Amino acid sequence: VGIGHWGPNLVRSLENTGKARVIWLCDLSQERLEAVGRKYPDARITSDSNEILRDKSVDAVVISTPTVTHFKLAREVLEAGKHVLVEKPLATSSDQVETLTRLAREKGKILMVGHIFEFNSTVIELKRLINSGELGKIYYLNFERTNMGPVRTDVNALWDLATHDISILYFLFDRDPLEITASGESFLNDKIEDAVFATFRFQEGPVAHIHASWLFPRKVRQITVVGDKKMVIWDDLDLNSPIKIFDVKRYPDDEKIPNETFLGYKMLGLSEEFSPPVEQNEPLRAECEHFLDCILSGQFPQTDGYNAYRVVKALEAATKSMKNGSTAIPIGYKVSI
Ligand SMILES: NC(=O)c1ccc[n+]([C@@H]2O[C@H](COP(=O)([O-])OP(=O)(O)OC[C@H]3O[C@@H](n4cnc5c(N)ncnc54)[C@H](O)[C@@H]3O)[C@@H](O)[C@H]2O)c1
Repeated sequence: VGIGHWGPNLVRSLENTGKARVIWLCDLSQERLEAVGRKYPDARITSDSNEILRDKSVDAVVISTPTVTHFKLAREVLEAGKHVLVEKPLATSSDQVETLTRLAREKGKILMVGHIFEFNSTVIELKRLINSGELGKIYYLNFERTNMGPVRTDVNALWDLATHDISILYFLFDRDPLEITASGESFLNDKIEDAVFATFRFQEGPVAHIHASWLFPRKVRQITVVGDKKMVIWDDLDLNSPIKIFDVKRYPDDEKIPNETFLGYKMLGLSEEFSPPVEQNEPLRAECEHFLDCILSGQFPQTDGYNAYRVVKALEAATKSMKNGSTAIPIGYKVSI
């Protein structure tokens, strides 16, 4: 349901798994239905998602519509007793995520959110590098997700773009930050922030900074991890060497100069970059495959309701901070889902 810009990628990936057949395509736009429908002549087309829900031969529905429509559509799918994969962010409030999570449990159906980067082999390698201790103590991380467009009007750049970075951050460290501060500016549309800056502080480090914008002259998809032994740049747009590692070195190798002095820092440098070979995968296909495997096995997906809940809670805290002059908002909640 929803075959605009992103939906067709989901259709293709689902079919490519060889584990599912796409039998319906749904969109409000007749033009999109005809354009995508031509590529999948075996699939029926409709502009009414209820038609799909009434079809008993449908096991699962994938939702790739604008964010503000996710909750209503996902609830209808679960109420109809079908599994559902929903694009990110799962919903526009943590209450909505709770409702969907409970409903999925009551109905015994899979609810999964498309936090695609958790299925990206190079992000998985970045997590391995951090956890292995190879980088040393992690001081801070910098996330950049910018481009010229696509400009959304239903949600701001925080909910649209930074959702990815927050889900990666939680995936890398598997714990909640202590507090979040954020600021954002609306240039193109009133009250819809096009450029957002958010900072996440964890107990005993690290600090993570996120810059997300759809109003920026260059497409950037980067994460920089600064450790006291090594530093890493992860670049999603570099198809040859997405991960580059730099050794923190002393020049010259003079042990007598203490690190923490000004001279000591002047003597620090970086080694030549090193790009470890990383087997790359098709993250969207891996995500779709995981969804289908969970349906077949009955296991909870990695990006389940709870996973979505943490990310949406962080988005809510960042929103609150943006509205309150960038005050720090603590992340504290009791998980009841
Ligand atoms: N995982 C990713 O990397 C990624 C990338 C891009 C977009 N997305 C997500 O995918 C979703 C869609 O984004 P997009 O860029 O394709 O948006 P889009 O506006 O290009 O497409 C959305 C489509 O949904 C259709 N639609 C709206 N309401 C509908 C309804 N009730 N029933 C049926 N169809 C309906 C619209 O007609 C449109 O064709 C968003 O949630 C976005 O956050 C994810």
